[in-house]
Amino acid sequence: MEKREQLYEGKAKKVFATDDAGLVIVSYKDDATAGDGAKKGTIRGKGVVNNRLSNALMQKLEAQGVPTHFVRELNDRETLVKKVEIVPLEVIVRNVAAGSFSKRLGVAEGTPLNCTTLEFSYKNDDLHDPLINHYHALAMGLATQAEIDTIAAYAFKVNDLLREVMMEVGIRLIDFKLEFGRLPDGQIVLADEISPDTCRFWDAKTGAHLDKDLFRRDLGGEEDAYQEVMRRLLG
Ligand code: TMP
Ligand code: ASP
Repeated sequence: MEKREQLYEGKAKKVFATDDAGLVIVSYKDDATAGDGAKKGTIRGKGVVNNRLSNALMQKLEAQGVPTHFVRELNDRETLVKKVEIVPLEVIVRNVAAGSFSKRLGVAEGTPLNCTTLEFSYKNDDLHDPLINHYHALAMGLATQAEIDTIAAYAFKVNDLLREVMMEVGIRLIDFKLEFGRLPDGQIVLADEISPDTCRFWDAKTGAHLDKDLFRRDLGGEEDAYQEVMRRLLG
């Protein structure tokens, strides 16, 4: 597999072409941003943790019937994935109130929710990823009804599986964000990453944050927390 030109650079990853038009290489950076890039910094070792964790979790999900973009881990920071057209939705699943849910709705962080929730944000940095409902997504042509149904079913299935995997290592899955992509034949697959950047992980015993909120909220200890999550899940 030959690495070719850079196609894209995002806030936390770069994407490179390969000699196969259907495959790209994702390269994870240590760069971290919060509040739409208002806060910029580095979490040392984050790229390695997110690459390795995301790959391990996606392989587990794939084995349980959730199709993903994952193909093969190339090294500590780089992974070969299927090239997809990203559906411009941030798909957020919540088990416990936290973050923007708590702020917007006045529900104290840590309050268990009566049922798992699913919400969509329109992936658009200029608009600050606004919360939308599925009619908005349809009206704007962001996805079809069939795609939204598939995405919702996969998102709940990921929640069930991920919750169990994390609980086995003493971590509560509070909430998380997924992104999906379309393969050339139209099939929807899980894309982007699953990592402490995109999930809220709370230690089941102490309630300590083991995720990017440490960075977002200037709490400190994020480097150790990322290593801790990797150690618990990958040994
Ligand atoms: P929120 O409570 O800030 O809406 O975040 C919900 C979940 O989504 C949380 O696990 C963090 C994740 N998330 C991202 O992955 N990217 C983002 O840009 C934001 C705002 C949240
Ligand atoms: N994606 C957000 C940003 O770039 C960061 C976050 O809250 O995860 O600002």
